[in-house]
Amino acid sequence: MGKMVRIAVFASGNGSNAENIIEYLRTQATPAHAEVACVVCNKPGAGVIERARRLGVPCRVMSAAEIRDEALMGGVMDEEAIDMVVLAGFLMMVPPFLVERYRGRMLNIHPSLLPKFGGKGMYGRHVHEAVVAAGERETGITIHHVSEECDGGSVIFQASVAVAPSDTPASVEAKVHTLERLHFPRIVAETAARIAM
Ligand code: GRF
Repeated sequence: MGKMVRIAVFASGNGSNAENIIEYLRTQATPAHAEVACVVCNKPGAGVIERARRLGVPCRVMSAAEIRDEALMGGVMDEEAIDMVVLAGFLMMVPPFLVERYRGRMLNIHPSLLPKFGGKGMYGRHVHEAVVAAGERETGITIHHVSEECDGGSVIFQASVAVAPSDTPASVEAKVHTLERLHFPRIVAETAARIAM
């Protein structure tokens, strides 16, 4: 078996996706071929920091300025020997030097069926509010490669779920989280397996 693919998960918020990916790679991905080597968080106090601590995964809390500092950030990625990056609720544009360094090895999850409800300002609850306001009959998740463009990059996987007239942004969010839990860790594992080849 080849060497383990070392993943950095970048997150700004609650971190439920980060936790699911960490757990999945430890328990479900067979043979084990990838691991979350570290979490990078740009929001002091974010839930993901406590989750990482509980799971024993090193977490680097860094400011936006530090993340944009090529020498500093490049050094962190070198130190942790990161092969692949997963954005899981990371609410900052990734600096171009990182996009370039991890092209084809950096994924993002977006909580809608892109290109619908993507782009600037479309994150978290805003997405689900817009979906409900537009009277959409379905929504879903998009897992895509990261490019220089916000929510751009080629799509790797989409899954959809029905939106009922009685749905609220909160209930849509819950449905979307279920899809995320179901698919994101597996797609991360499959992408890592391709990188390992
Ligand atoms: C998820 O809905 C993800 O799709 C979006 O931000 C949310 C992050 O949730 N980009 P969590 O922090 O993983 O719980």
